[in-house]
Amino acid sequence: MDGNGRWAKKRHLPRLAGHRKGVEAVRRAVETAPTLGIEVLTLYAFSSENWRRPADEVSDLMGLLRHYLRTEIAELHRNGIRMRFIGDLSGLNGDLVTLLGEAAELTRDNTKMTLVLALNYGSHDELTRVVRELATAALEGTLDPAAIDAAAIEARLDTVDLPPPDLLIRTSGEQRLSNFLLWQAAYAELVFTDELWPDFNAASLTAAVTAFGTRDRRYGGR
Ligand code: IPE
Ligand code: MG
Repeated sequence: MDGNGRWAKKRHLPRLAGHRKGVEAVRRAVETAPTLGIEVLTLYAFSSENWRRPADEVSDLMGLLRHYLRTEIAELHRNGIRMRFIGDLSGLNGDLVTLLGEAAELTRDNTKMTLVLALNYGSHDELTRVVRELATAALEGTLDPAAIDAAAIEARLDTVDLPPPDLLIRTSGEQRLSNFLLWQAAYAELVFTDELWPDFNAASLTAAVTAFGTRDRRYGGR
């Protein structure tokens, strides 16, 4: 979800106004996705590198997240949305971690769609945690290094028991992955759009899914 700041700048508004509009775009995407047959929607809300932003913007983003969760969880639950969170949650404020736990617990049996929020998430951090866990198990003698395979790694990723993404959308004209699901997106179809995230709407998501439908996926086969 990229382009909130530029959306605000174009209108001579503070960046926070762009982030607020970004939350509206989140609401739209979460409403639209199930109607397109999307089973899992993962939103990159805050990266492990976003801490480099000025403290007031970090605090605005955390405040919006807190507000979004407090005000939307009941509605998401009513709509059959299951919530999951990926990233190093231990790096977030305790009250937020409690909220995340409550949201995941309340919605755990919902089946309409899984909404995954990536918070303090970065693939390098995630994979580093996996490697540390594997090395510790090997050292303790509970894991044979020769037995480490892709499944052993996947079982320790934050996305354990979630399918790999089929489609990855990046907004705002940037064409990079920015440390997002690097392992999991090995065969994801990439869609880049110039639209800024606050402008992203049902038609934008539908267009991306339509583009996805035209791709010939071979997974290295022929
Ligand atoms: C939203 O867009 C990204 C986050 C939620 C952290 P940006 O804040 O990166 O917007 P631009 O790139 O400055 O336009
Ligand atoms: Mg950006």
